Amino acid sequence: MQKLKEAARIIQFADFAIALTGAGISVESGIPAFRGAQGLWQKYDPFEYAHIEAFVHHPAKVWEMLRELDLIMQKARPNPAHLVLAAWERENYLKAIITQNVDNLHQAAGSKNVIEFHGNAFRLRCLKCDRIYARDEIDLTQSVPLCPCGGLLKPDVVFFGENIPIEALLEAKAAVNACDVMLVVGTSAEVAPANTFPWEAKKHGAKIIEININPTVLTEEVTDIFLEGRASEVLTQLAQLL
Ligand code: OAD
Repeated sequence: MQKLKEAARIIQFADFAIALTGAGISVESGIPAFRGAQGLWQKYDPFEYAHIEAFVHHPAKVWEMLRELDLIMQKARPNPAHLVLAAWERENYLKAIITQNVDNLHQAAGSKNVIEFHGNAFRLRCLKCDRIYARDEIDLTQSVPLCPCGGLLKPDVVFFGENIPIEALLEAKAAVNACDVMLVVGTSAEVAPANTFPWEAKKHGAKIIEININPTVLTEEVTDIFLEGRASEVLTQLAQLL
């Protein structure tokens, strides 16, 4: 309780608090995380299913996984963790969310300043002409969805081997440089460059509040306050203290 109260006080008096979120925040919305026993990468080898080369050479195979994920994401709804962060933005406690998630749940919860660091699965992009489509414009039952130009359509998400969208990278860096508090919620912090942000923020004196069901590589090294537990429970408790 002491740690919760301290974290709430830090958030309440922050000048520029931001959140960095990962798959763990959406687990309670029914979307599996990537790592760990129940993780997606237990079932699908990321080098066979989430690398851009794999997609280009074996699109039908990769689309099998993408269709499965799409079904899960279509059903998912924001959980209390997403809703608390959206409320904090409205109440001016939180300035931005950098999310590694592509499930659109922060936006569905009402968050406005969401930096989509790994893209958004509710858009598709043609690998040939670069045209963007809304997910609902495309018949995803085809084994390999194609653009009228003949190019492969791919969810507009960052695969391994691809760059972070430059605008997202710049916006995220600006937010990290400006923040005096960073909430790190539901990420294993194993994937660069997003996992460098807590270190960057810490370097210029920001407080790091981490929420996770398990300690991570950050916990001992950079985290100031570790709040162990499910994102929805911990964020709801914090919200009650603000
Ligand atoms: P991971 O699957 O690596 O980590 C999920 C984290 O969430 C773990 O640390 C879990 O302990 C934690 N967790 C699980 N359930 C939770 C809950 N209910 N409340 C709080 N924490 C919980 O997911 P990410 O860190 O997001 O990239 O993975 C980063 C990137 O790796 C993803 O964006 C994806 C993946 O490869 C791309 O696809 C480019």
